[in-house]
Amino acid sequence: MKYLFEIQHPGSTSSLGEVKLSQPLESGEVIIICPKETDAELSPIFVYEIHKQKDFPEWVDVDSLAAFLHENLKPYEDTQADIKKGIDYAMSSAEGKGGFILLAGIGQRLIGVVVMLRTGMQGYIPENVILFIAVEPSNRGKGVGEQLVREAIARCDGDVKLHVEYDNPAKRLYERIGFGNKYAEMRYTRRKHEE
Ligand SMILES: CC(C)(COP(=O)(O)OP(=O)(O)OC[C@H]1O[C@@H](n2cnc3c(N)ncnc32)[C@H](O)[C@@H]1OP(=O)(O)O)[C@@H](O)C(=O)NCCC(=O)NCCS
Repeated sequence: MKYLFEIQHPGSTSSLGEVKLSQPLESGEVIIICPKETDAELSPIFVYEIHKQKDFPEWVDVDSLAAFLHENLKPYEDTQADIKKGIDYAMSSAEGKGGFILLAGIGQRLIGVVVMLRTGMQGYIPENVILFIAVEPSNRGKGVGEQLVREAIARCDGDVKLHVEYDNPAKRLYERIGFGNKYAEMRYTRRKHEE
């Protein structure tokens, strides 16, 4: 079963079909609709755009978001402490920093997240980087990840880069969306005794 996506952008007047919302959309929210023929009951996926702490719906906070990412990024996860630093950066209003987070939820259950950061650079280093993208396992393969990446790209200016391990099947998804390999990332990891 795949979801059919219909995106409601803030301020747009596009039709929501037959879906009856229990509450009106707030600024920054989009809705992804699961069609009738695939589900007896429509379970819309709401996507929340987060720039600041106050944008979080009441059922998510930085700690639960970091825990979600730590769990659902497996086997490519970072530590919760590093994930929290990334979340803080995305919500920073400091010069040259910031970005945003998209949270996808069914009801009050988080099912997917993308964290986009502004790099403060352009040209050789793209303006934006997708730091984290994860969808919880029971909702994978239904197009949620693709929609989150496409929505995130649509909501930022400039180019976007991301890092993906060569053996991660997500590479196919990124290629489908239009990401290509411009350079191989090579990294010098400083050893403890050099610091
Ligand atoms: C990568 C991820 C976000 C994709 O989300 P999704 O909702 O399953 O993505 P979609 O349904 O839009 O697209 C499916 C594609 O995702 C990729 N994919 C990666 N892992 C997958 C999984 N476990 N199940 C299904 N698809 C997966 C495949 O490329 C697949 O495309 P394909 O069917 O052509 O092979 C999700 O699988 C995930 O959270 N994986 C673990 C964390 C991770 O690897 N994050 C990326 C780090 S760079």
